[in-house]
Amino acid sequence: MACPGGVSWGGMRCAVLGGGQVRRPRAGCFGPVFSRDVFTTNVMNGRFFSRAYRIAINVFWGVIPLSGHALELHRDKASPYDLALKGRLEGMAIDDVRYLRWSELRSLPTTKIRVDGEFVPGEQEVTIVMLDDVLTKLPRSSDADAIISFCNDGYASIYTTEFMAERRPFIVLEINGEGPEKWPPPGMKFNPGPYVISVADQFSPGVSKIQDAGHKRPWGVDTLEFINYRERFARLYSGALDTPVESVKSGRDIWINSCFSCHNVPQENLGGIKAARPIQILAMHATYNPDFFRTYVRNPTKINPMAKMEPHPHYSDSQLEFLIAFLKLTATP
Ligand code: HEC
Repeated sequence: MACPGGVSWGGMRCAVLGGGQVRRPRAGCFGPVFSRDVFTTNVMNGRFFSRAYRIAINVFWGVIPLSGHALELHRDKASPYDLALKGRLEGMAIDDVRYLRWSELRSLPTTKIRVDGEFVPGEQEVTIVMLDDVLTKLPRSSDADAIISFCNDGYASIYTTEFMAERRPFIVLEINGEGPEKWPPPGMKFNPGPYVISVADQFSPGVSKIQDAGHKRPWGVDTLEFINYRERFARLYSGALDTPVESVKSGRDIWINSCFSCHNVPQENLGGIKAARPIQILAMHATYNPDFFRTYVRNPTKINPMAKMEPHPHYSDSQLEFLIAFLKLTATP
């Protein structure tokens, strides 16, 4: 059995939906399956040891002295498996990009976990490094408090400090001992490389059940942007959106956790570009044709048989109203 939720990471879901589907076959079950068998390759990363260590990380996020950084930032991209970094890192200008090598990430303390049916059919061993173990080795600016990950197909995900502390996302470095140079592994129908970020119940119980958990499990990740959340997202919190109205706030939360992955705010280049439908278009639908909007979000193919957007049948009526309340105000100065 691959996935209790019926959503498998492998090519299966993708194949069911057809080649043109934009839905990314995201990790469906770094959930219960992951809780089976963990062993660590490095004592430093032992989960007992790391409890106190991790609390220290959370406390010191943003104020870690430069001397503690072990990872070198390269100016040149040397391979397709380099991870690009931009944004708020010490000494970097706004449009600078630096690169981390896969081999350097692999030299950090890693954990190996055994999972069933995650990437390829059957049992497999996955080598991971915790995302915050990577971040603490980097010269983040003191006001960097979140990262946005970008994928090679224009998909984006947001990870705030709070999310990272509570949900403990990690980066997948190897599948059955093979890194991205050898991906896709035999039996997998698409290439998840160069990097996959994911979350698992064994590190954060219940995380596989949070709303739209798939957005925290992107594959094809090639870039991390370090941001100050309030500053980067200011447009979605200012003007008419600077309001205590709960429905608007809830709608914004859903937007940032979910729609943001594919729909962009072009003025700020904020969010993924996969959908090629910026927020203004969605705001127009929400404002002038809310019935269309509700139907499209829940079940796009009902309106457009060729729709590539993933359906959101799990959204409640009130969640759709929250999204509408939020989107309407994005059009108001
Ligand atoms: C995985 C990517 C993805 C996510 C996540 C996503 N969308 Fe979309 N969306 C698309 C794509 C692609 C289109 C273009 C039409 C199509 O192929 O379905 C689209 C189109 C739409 C449209 C129709 C616009 C038009 O004029 O065609 C609406 C409305 C919409 N999205 C709303 C949302 C909302 C609200 C959310 C968050 C709950 C969301 N989308 C999340 C990919 C996505």
